[in-house]
Amino acid sequence: MIEEKNDRIISAEHKEVDFQLEASLRPQIFDDYIGQVKVVDNLKIFIQAAKGRKEALDHVLLYGPPGLGKTTLAHIIANEMNSNIRVTSGPAIERPGDLAAILTNLDLGDVLFIDEVHRLNRTVEEVLYSAMEDYALDIVVGKGPSARSIRLDLPNFTLIGATTRAGSLSSPLRSRFGVVSRLQYYEVDELSEIIKRSANILNIKIDEAGSNEIAKRSRGTPRVANRLLKRTRDFAEVKANGIVTHSVAIKALEMLEVDQYGLDAVDRKLLIMIIEKFGGGPVGLDTMAAAISEAPETIGDVYEPFLLKQGFLQRTPRGRIATEFAYKYFNIPIDGLQQKSFLEE
Ligand SMILES: Nc1ncnc2c1ncn2[C@@H]1O[C@H](COP(=O)(O)OP(=O)(O)OP(=O)(O)O)[C@@H](O)[C@H]1O
Ligand SMILES: [Mg+2]
Repeated sequence: MIEEKNDRIISAEHKEVDFQLEASLRPQIFDDYIGQVKVVDNLKIFIQAAKGRKEALDHVLLYGPPGLGKTTLAHIIANEMNSNIRVTSGPAIERPGDLAAILTNLDLGDVLFIDEVHRLNRTVEEVLYSAMEDYALDIVVGKGPSARSIRLDLPNFTLIGATTRAGSLSSPLRSRFGVVSRLQYYEVDELSEIIKRSANILNIKIDEAGSNEIAKRSRGTPRVANRLLKRTRDFAEVKANGIVTHSVAIKALEMLEVDQYGLDAVDRKLLIMIIEKFGGGPVGLDTMAAAISEAPETIGDVYEPFLLKQGFLQRTPRGRIATEFAYKYFNIPIDGLQQKSFLEE
């Protein structure tokens, strides 16, 4: 049975039910933020330097797949700078005036966090250019021939933008970020740490093998890890003695149809479709999306990066192809010649 996208337990996308859970589990300081060592080390240096000079931190762009900790990091940066944070998002800022209102209300050193920054509309984005570069706001007063432009000074502030798709950002906007950090999928041992930390906060009893098993199936994503932990706890309480052991974790995750690679029914459907309907590919993103009734953006942001990383899919100039590993996963013999010719083109 294919679950609706929003019911997918392994969906990395934010869901309403995550809200409370995430608020309680979200690390507040660098010391509690596990993994992403390179990104964090760099940020620590920039923050220390900015604080030393008593300046606002340079504008920061955080990008990477959903659920890897962009929002979390934005809050941590503000905390570590001892700054206030204003939170908004690209689609929420409809008109230039909305942005102007936000900007003129900032205090010196404040952090303005714009989530989904790639979804700002053009006219709003243009206001942001001078705000980021010169800490100034150019506004037009009056109408018609008597209209004139005046420049308002803004306090030095830090813009933190987050996006799942850095490629959709216009280059003038992108170039105005002094720090551009790409978040990576987490390693199993890092996820296991995150799971143990969350278990501790939520008072869940879990052993090393249990947290490791959940970590292995969390698609490199803390949000998924926390969600699987919670569901496994439910299973442990109802079907076992409440302790998340290795075997409890395996049984719970099997029931949730999350396999040892973290793939769920929708991933399997996607892969099997490429293999059976399209002879292994190459197949374009739009075709893939249409074939499983998903938005191309969702395929591109959520499913594909993980399947690529795990080696189930490969990108070629003509589209995506299912790898030998994907065929092996399904126990389907591969038509070697066919695949080879695609790769050679
Ligand atoms: N490095 C980390 N250490 C511990 N927990 C983390 C870490 N990164 C993320 N988390 C946990 O994962 C949850 C999801 O992270 P977050 O909301 O920051 O992701 P995001 O990248 O902003 O996702 P989206 O693209 O959907 O906005 C957080 O609530 C937090 O509990
Ligand atoms: Mg976020």
